[in-house]
Amino acid sequence: MRRKIIAGNWKMHGSRAENTQLVETIISGFAGDDGAECVICPPFVYLHEISRQLRDSAVKLGAQNLSAEAQGAFTGEVSAAMLRDVGCRYVLVGHSERRALYGEDDGLVARKYAAAQAKGLVPILCVGETLAEREGGHTHPVIARQLDAVLAVSDVGTLARAVVAYEPVWAIGTGRTATPEQAQDVHAFVRERIAARDAKIAADLSLLYGGSVKASNASELFAMPDVDGGLIGGASLKAEEFLAICAAALDGRVV
Ligand code: PGA
Repeated sequence: MRRKIIAGNWKMHGSRAENTQLVETIISGFAGDDGAECVICPPFVYLHEISRQLRDSAVKLGAQNLSAEAQGAFTGEVSAAMLRDVGCRYVLVGHSERRALYGEDDGLVARKYAAAQAKGLVPILCVGETLAEREGGHTHPVIARQLDAVLAVSDVGTLARAVVAYEPVWAIGTGRTATPEQAQDVHAFVRERIAARDAKIAADLSLLYGGSVKASNASELFAMPDVDGGLIGGASLKAEEFLAICAAALDGRVV
């Protein structure tokens, strides 16, 4: 059975005091479950402190980005080894904000994915089309290109220790969620494309949907056969909302 994963991407939000409270509430509200994983991805500077706070809890830690380089003269960058060192298990790779605002192209994203894997971090590889690409009928080719770039550098077998998140750019932070059918269509496409290389890897891969997921729409998205959880931005900053999304992933309960 595929693992359900709910990952909270806090982006550049919060303070130490706010985070402490948020983490505390999430820890006490998420008991843990064999079939599900709850991950939070705070800004770099808070990772170490939050890692200590998460000790003995069922909640896992992730980072929002990493360097493609292992170490050296790269001012301002953070390596995969450093993220491991402070207790991260996951890392977002290729988030659309990194691609659009910081010029991360498919090649760099592929190198970051490989850098994460080299140090035992689980990359959450983000893919997704813009509104113009969707309206132009290019959704599948764009997703295929983004996936293939990673698989040109890393073997398909590495996906056994990775997660893929489909995040349509037009749905991120806009309040405009993809319909369950739109999400399912792309998720099925991703799984089929990977299955063409390795059917077992594809069948076991957790595919997350991201883009304006809320407690009120999570259940119908997670009910889709190829949607194995979510990457949650804005709603992950509100503990009760985030916990309700986790609950929806766990048992399919309508919240
Ligand atoms: P959103 O962000 O849930 O606020 O749309 C999702 C993301 O960017 O990962």
